[in-house]
Amino acid sequence: MTSRVLGYFLLLSICSTRSQTLEYEEEYEDVTVNQMLAPKTQQRDATQILNNLLKEYDKKLRPDIGIKPTVIDVDIYVNSIGPVSSIKMEYQIDIIFAQTWTDSRLRYNSTMKILTLNSNMVGLIWLPDTIFRNSKNADAHWITTPNQLLRIWNDGKILYTLRLTINAECQLQLHNFPMDEHSCPLIFSSYGYPQDEMVYKWRKNSVEAADQKSWRLYQFDFMGLRNTTDIMKTSAGKQDFLT
Ligand SMILES: *[C@@H]1O[C@H](CO)[C@@H](O)[C@H](O)[C@H]1NC(C)=O
Ligand SMILES: *[C@@H]1O[C@H](CO)[C@@H](O)[C@H](O)[C@H]1NC(C)=O
Repeated sequence: MTSRVLGYFLLLSICSTRSQTLEYEEEYEDVTVNQMLAPKTQQRDATQILNNLLKEYDKKLRPDIGIKPTVIDVDIYVNSIGPVSSIKMEYQIDIIFAQTWTDSRLRYNSTMKILTLNSNMVGLIWLPDTIFRNSKNADAHWITTPNQLLRIWNDGKILYTLRLTINAECQLQLHNFPMDEHSCPLIFSSYGYPQDEMVYKWRKNSVEAADQKSWRLYQFDFMGLRNTTDIMKTSAGKQDFLT
């Protein structure tokens, strides 16, 4: 009698474990299905949101035109520096260049807080006309780099990042070589907007560097990074020059 009750009990408990496993499996399947579908629906939603936003959008007009200057927050992550050529008076720098600004025309209502745009869609919105002033490469170099990412938050905040390899001018005067110190600048500004239309700002901890093991600096030692902001007079008027 006791053994029968026990047997019953065991059977029951096996049954209930089984059904738990089944339930778990069903849930698990649901999760996988959702995960597989999510990117597609998200993409469709993103395209739809963007199409709506771009109906009346003129990408030739900067954000806040006629109201206030567009503020571009910048930060730079330095992947590597080098080699430095004292003969050609140049050096190579590989960076991730991140620009953040707000375009209130691109605000949207959606459960999706962030839209991520691919390279094709990047060309559809206004982008800062930032150029590297002491770059020896063609100015267009940085525009055509495919390593780019653009995110739009629902409040109109935009993050645009580019990976760039730049050969920049660096006037090295090696009088006391190897006992001297040099700084090699990387200078950027807007191409055509004066300061009262476009302002650049360094973000906090805006210049950071990767591990220096892979850098090809050879006879040089890396001392550090710093940033400055200057106002320069150019044909476009007074402009922010960030170094
Ligand atoms: C978003 O929704 C709010 C409230 O429903 C509305 O006032 C606002 O105009 C909407 N904005 C856009 C960009 O559709
Ligand atoms: C660059 O500038 C910003 C803002 O002026 C500052 O917070 C930051 O510490 C500076 N230096 C570096 C190396 O990022």
